[in-house]
Amino acid sequence: MGVSENARLVLEKRYLIKDADGKAIESVDGMFQRVAGAIAASDLLHDKNADVERTKKTFYDMMTNLEFLPNSPTLMNAGRPLGQLSACFVLPVEDSMDEIFEAIKQAALIHKSGGGTGFSFSRLRQKGSTVNSTGGVASGPISFMKVFNMATEAVKQGGTRRGANMGILRVDHPDILEFIDCKSNNSEINNFNISVGLTEKFMNAVESGGDYELVDPHTRKVVQKLRARDVFERIVDAAWRNGEPGIIFLDRLNRDNIVPSQGEIESTNPCGEQPLLPYESCNLGSINLTKMLKEEDGVYSFDWKKLERTAKDAVHFLDNVIDANKYPLENIDRVTKQTRKIGLGVMGWADSLLRMGIPYNSQEAVALGEKVMKFITACGREESAALAVQRGAFPLFEESILPQDTPQRNGTISTIAPTGTLSIIAGCSSGVEPVFGYVFIRNIMDGTEMVEVNPILREELEKRGLYSEGLMRRIAKEGTIAHIEELPEDLRRVFVSAHDISPEDHIRMQAAFQRGTDNAVSKTVNFRHDATREEVAEVYSLAFHLGCKGVTIYRDGSRSEQVLNIGKVN
Ligand code: CDP
Repeated sequence: MGVSENARLVLEKRYLIKDADGKAIESVDGMFQRVAGAIAASDLLHDKNADVERTKKTFYDMMTNLEFLPNSPTLMNAGRPLGQLSACFVLPVEDSMDEIFEAIKQAALIHKSGGGTGFSFSRLRQKGSTVNSTGGVASGPISFMKVFNMATEAVKQGGTRRGANMGILRVDHPDILEFIDCKSNNSEINNFNISVGLTEKFMNAVESGGDYELVDPHTRKVVQKLRARDVFERIVDAAWRNGEPGIIFLDRLNRDNIVPSQGEIESTNPCGEQPLLPYESCNLGSINLTKMLKEEDGVYSFDWKKLERTAKDAVHFLDNVIDANKYPLENIDRVTKQTRKIGLGVMGWADSLLRMGIPYNSQEAVALGEKVMKFITACGREESAALAVQRGAFPLFEESILPQDTPQRNGTISTIAPTGTLSIIAGCSSGVEPVFGYVFIRNIMDGTEMVEVNPILREELEKRGLYSEGLMRRIAKEGTIAHIEELPEDLRRVFVSAHDISPEDHIRMQAAFQRGTDNAVSKTVNFRHDATREEVAEVYSLAFHLGCKGVTIYRDGSRSEQVLNIGKVN
């Protein structure tokens, strides 16, 4: 099968079964056999005579053709004793010592198995308020986040992958100002992504220039009023400085909460794409859009029939994962199976646009993105309805806000994940992100350099007789081909990279995919190093008005240890 050397290395390091000496005793093909078999076997729970071999083959083909991949924990753990298959969890943090440390223990169990956890710390009483049982003073949400962080740090050594957390604080929590700056100058919260939970009341006060109230969650008393614009500017300033905090729009998440009877959505998973109720988990999977194209006389377009078939098989796969899963806690097992949420998304979107010759930052790309995602969600819903006929609707279906005319097996269908590892395995651009850089110079250990070129760019340049190593080095250095004037105009327009695309166009693409997605969209809006705070603020407002569920931004060079560097890779 066609996985690259790079993909093979990633799989060997973390995914394949190893012996006691750490040597892989499973091949890449063996891994896909294991996963396909374990997930197909769930069919038997609903039909004793199910043709499991046939389903296994469908799942196996879809994965080995790199058309669809489930999230990493499924690849790592399916058909193995640990058996934990989900990437996303949200745990409640209640305002007592017992419950806080219970949440830490639960998170440790989840991290060990490769899952990531999200928490809202908004229920913890404010720093400095009294603790009844001891007469002492409460240390507040941020100080407890440091304890969660330490636990993650310790578990990360022995787990399947580095544990990730999301920490949310509502904008009306009295400790909000401390929270906004809590990652700015220390590493005590380095295992967290943080986001401020914004309310519409707050956003309206920002726009009208008014005040808003801070409420102590313990006493429910208003303890202070702040000018909304000041707080908004402070969030913008911190994000401009180092990319954090992100923001999420809580009212919007709750408008799409399919079972409001079960309580409020307070948090998302670590990368922000999956809002969940406390104790809910979700498994994700992504369709590689580059494999959903057909070619006719050198012209590429979507093969809608193939996309429909793949989306339906993927929903079948992800519904089976819910039953094959071994949950880290009894409560998570129960709550997850009440709504049976799945998160089908995409990767390779930017690469697909390159193939079709459509610039990422064009109205055509935005319209097509919305169409593709709405189509995937609609096909997924059809499959989920078909599964409901066979297997029954999810238990809370009648209580849910979903249209009651067609029972559904799954509370939500779609989510757009970052696909950090999956896109490496599939060899395509990640999620719905634009291509970050087209050429990288990689230093190999013996001092030699290797030039890595985006395969679609390479093909296009070779076709036109324009490929040369000198040109590649120049592209690597400049980070973009947009300014290389001797290249044809059409190439420079289509092969745009993350920094050629305006932040507004990043958000427009995020909003387009959001319109077709039940859950949320993982996306980073890239800013140039010289972008101003005002530009960041404008993008936040645009995201709010275009219906995004949250925003993550990153200004080039604003963090000391930047993962992706234009021009150089270590
Ligand atoms: O590509 P892969 O399936 O490995 O993961 P992803 O799409 O990059 O991330 C999906 C989700 O997995 C994240 O939002 C987290 O919930 C979780 N995750 C994690 O817990 N720890 C990591 N190191 C990476 C991802």
